Amino acid sequence: MESTEEILQIKHISKRFGGLQALDNISLTVKTNTVHGIIGPNGAGKTTLFNVITGMIQPDDGKLLFLQRELPFLQPHKLVPAGIARTFQNIRLFESMTVLDNVLIGQHVHTPTPVISILLQGKKASHWERVAYDEAMQSLEFVGLTPKSGEIVKNLSYGQRRLVEFARALAAKPRLILLDEPAAGMNPTEKAHLLKIVLQLREKGYTIVLIEHDMKLVMQICQTITVLDHGNNIAEGQPEYIRKHPEVISAYLGKGE
Ligand SMILES: Nc1ncnc2c1ncn2[C@@H]1O[C@H](COP(=O)(O)OP(=O)(O)OP(=O)(O)O)[C@@H](O)[C@H]1O
Ligand SMILES: [Mg+2]
Repeated sequence: MESTEEILQIKHISKRFGGLQALDNISLTVKTNTVHGIIGPNGAGKTTLFNVITGMIQPDDGKLLFLQRELPFLQPHKLVPAGIARTFQNIRLFESMTVLDNVLIGQHVHTPTPVISILLQGKKASHWERVAYDEAMQSLEFVGLTPKSGEIVKNLSYGQRRLVEFARALAAKPRLILLDEPAAGMNPTEKAHLLKIVLQLREKGYTIVLIEHDMKLVMQICQTITVLDHGNNIAEGQPEYIRKHPEVISAYLGKGE
């Protein structure tokens, strides 16, 4: 059951850093309820593309449509309400806070109570705090981190920290989740667990865009794969097509990967 609805349309996005064309007229469409892989050698522009989508970087050209509406650039705070959440290639967590607190931060935006009334512990605040808590715990349960909810993040393994980021993104109740190398630093057991989680999310109706270097994982999990190289979209299609694509093979062999 494959949807044809377009959740995200990236149209002619270009971004230059000084003399470097990090993204060169990139267009791609992500269909609803798919896992869409973005692969390519180091420096291909993959993370830059996520930074543009999430409003962290202003592109020189192009536009983005999310659910057929144009997304504003440079306004990351509008993304979670719009329905987009991400994880980072270099994990961004509050190391000295608990797992649960890190996840709560991901969805406080859905809490209509102003921070000041939460501080004053008004009746309304406690209701929304309870909702936020329940949602955070559900996300932690989904990624298998319930037993670690009270643990300080810095005591967790690298793979577990990646899952905390994942849970934080999920707690924001997004429609679209952007994962930047979620399997990096994970052992084979953790990778198998990650694969299961992503497949379950797709079954639940989420759409996932996945940047990943682990080809085996990408080929197993994605319906569509886009290949970037030097800021260009050099190939796009189903895993079987990408696996045999001559330009893709040479882009990887050229970098010794
Ligand atoms: N903020 C920035 N300022 C200057 N150059 C940047 C910036 N962000 C990225 N670049 C450059 O743009 C190019 C693309 O970087 P990007 O991080 O998007 O690559 P990537 O495909 O994610 O690579 P990797 O697989 O190593 O994560 C690189 O040459 C990088 O050095
Ligand atoms: Mg990157």
